[in-house]
Amino acid sequence: MTRLVRKAVIPAAGYGTRFLPIAKAVPKEMLPLVDKPVIQYVVEEAVASGITDILLVISRSKRAIEEHFAPAAELEAELAAKGRKAELEQLRELQSMARIHYTWQPKMGGLGDAVRYARSFVGDEPFALLLGDTVVTTEDPSRPVTRQLADVVEKRGGSCVALQEVSADKVSRYGIMGGDEVESGVIRANKFVEKPKLEEAPSRLAVSARYVLSPAIFTYLDQTQPGKGGELQLTDAMAAMMANEPLYGLRYEGQRHDIGNKLDFIKANVHFGLQHPDVGVALREWLKGVVA
Ligand code: G1P
Repeated sequence: MTRLVRKAVIPAAGYGTRFLPIAKAVPKEMLPLVDKPVIQYVVEEAVASGITDILLVISRSKRAIEEHFAPAAELEAELAAKGRKAELEQLRELQSMARIHYTWQPKMGGLGDAVRYARSFVGDEPFALLLGDTVVTTEDPSRPVTRQLADVVEKRGGSCVALQEVSADKVSRYGIMGGDEVESGVIRANKFVEKPKLEEAPSRLAVSARYVLSPAIFTYLDQTQPGKGGELQLTDAMAAMMANEPLYGLRYEGQRHDIGNKLDFIKANVHFGLQHPDVGVALREWLKGVVA
């Protein structure tokens, strides 16, 4: 029997070395896309996908993330006194979206290591894993990518990861999956390699920041040795799991915004800025002038 996906884990402990000096004291997940921090978009995607409980895996200097989702009685009182209803509403929504829990990853041991800290939170249910530095948008907002993955798992059981085709020069930056298509867009995995050289890549299908995983993954993580870069790789644990229970990949519909590097971060701000009701029109006009 399959079970509903209700819990999500968001690793947000990484140093953000590709984003120094800003990431030294400001968590990269707190960088704004226009007026909301990146992490809020990720939490909103989880909530829109039916998730009710979220575990954020954090570390030193990430306290601003906790503050962002915490109650702020004085600020609310101030807004209420000034009749700032819209802002008050926004703040209240932020705190009530989901139950948010926190745990610390004491040492940066890789994505697989971060996921291990979610074991007691997850228990024996399938769970979503959303990487905290990537925002994914879909044309139909009622079908976020995490929802699309959960649909596959709720129908077929096992696990499902989000896939996007990448160009040959980029395969060495991602976990790459190989397998056989079992229905349109759904591929059953038979190979998984973390950041392979082009000649070792089983395909160009890259795992892209969203997963719905069976709780069995924790057993495989326990048995996994450090891999690429000396880190505990989730990809290696998934490769071991796939021999014993089904693991699917879904070529999802949606656009991915990687916030963890400078150029993509600026592009994402332009993308969300152009769509923003307050500034979109003016930004478009301004950009035309700049580019000309
Ligand atoms: C991680 C995973 C990799 C995946 C990538 C993007 O790598 O290890 O398999 O393809 O995220 O989702 P990172 O970007 O953290 O190096």
